[in-house]
Amino acid sequence: MSGLAPNARSDLIQESATLAISAEASRLKAAGHDVVSLSAGEPDFPVPAPIARAGIEAIEQHDYRYTATSGVPALREAGAAWLREGFGLDYLPSEVMVTAGAKGGLNMALATVVEPGDRVLVLAPYWVSYPALVTMAGGVPVIVDAVPERGFVHDAATLEQLATEHGARGVIFNSPNNPSGAVATKPDVEALVEMCARRDMWIISDEIYATLLYDGAAHTSPASLPDGRERTIVVNGFTKSHTMTGWRTSFMAGPEAIVKAAGRIQSQLLGNPCTISQAAMLKACLHPVPEDQQSRMAAFAERRAFLLQKVNAIPGMSLAPPMGAFYAMIDVRPYCERLGVDDFTVCKQLLEEQRLALVPGSAFAAPGFVRASYAASMDVLEKAVARLQAWTADA
Ligand SMILES: Cc1ncc(COP(=O)(O)O)c(C=O)c1O
Repeated sequence: MSGLAPNARSDLIQESATLAISAEASRLKAAGHDVVSLSAGEPDFPVPAPIARAGIEAIEQHDYRYTATSGVPALREAGAAWLREGFGLDYLPSEVMVTAGAKGGLNMALATVVEPGDRVLVLAPYWVSYPALVTMAGGVPVIVDAVPERGFVHDAATLEQLATEHGARGVIFNSPNNPSGAVATKPDVEALVEMCARRDMWIISDEIYATLLYDGAAHTSPASLPDGRERTIVVNGFTKSHTMTGWRTSFMAGPEAIVKAAGRIQSQLLGNPCTISQAAMLKACLHPVPEDQQSRMAAFAERRAFLLQKVNAIPGMSLAPPMGAFYAMIDVRPYCERLGVDDFTVCKQLLEEQRLALVPGSAFAAPGFVRASYAASMDVLEKAVARLQAWTADA
């Protein structure tokens, strides 16, 4: 037997369920169907003009060659200032690295700290890529059940019990959370950090939604707390707040030795993050556009309020107020129970019968829920709600 075949490790990696559903929705759209998709976590706003312009100027000024592999020094410096001013985090430029998106930052962070076979706590509902990223780094994800009864924020005592049982070396923490929209309170984050300090665990803190908050919710980074900084790697940037999704830039910040090691890995694996995007990101750090951010947040808040009102009026469905990000985790458990179906079936039927794309909660290890992204215009949301209503009326 001869021939080229994918290796066994690649078999461990599944395609992201959210991307798969977005792709199916796009396929149906391309085939002429009137599809409404709330499946993608990508804002519908354009990148603020001055930031896009900085990218264009970089090309016009021939600023498109290789850069230092951990990012241009001016951007690392600006990133340190941005993290300090915006999030109370105290990093030197040498402790901040530019990565190819938050995903790239998480990848570099895990590649740097995970030893072969290390158990890593992944808290459900989790962003779909975490288990695969842990596996690719040579670790073993330990999925911690979702706690809808606690508003999807885990209590540290349960986490400590599981960490002890599995001998976990680290945890991936994501607040505000995709897909639940949950935001951990400061006491919750303090308890997590204390637990990790007691067990000498590291924390990878995915803070990519840190500025998208509602109803007075506040973001707390574990790295801002006593005992937190030395064991936390922070990933944060402009992907979601400034629609820099396709630009593929983010920051990874942590203790200098970790950032240096991650820089070595990035230099061999990736080279530098896109030069043009770094110019745009520098603009975003140095010249934030608060008016633009305010109008985005006002739009998100309006959409969130609309969904809360409409979804909660549908029999068999409910939606607790998401406190951050732009996702609504709709509880369809009573509905599923009544009809004897699961959340996958709900999403499949919604797509087939109503041409409405939502993501099954099971894709994030939260069965009985479906995720709707409200990074979509009011027009789209109105259509989506009408389809949801029509489908539940028929069922
Ligand atoms: C929680 C979370 N982390 C990371 C990412 C990836 O961000 P980026 O596009 O910057 O790689 C996403 C994107 O959906 C996300 O939801």
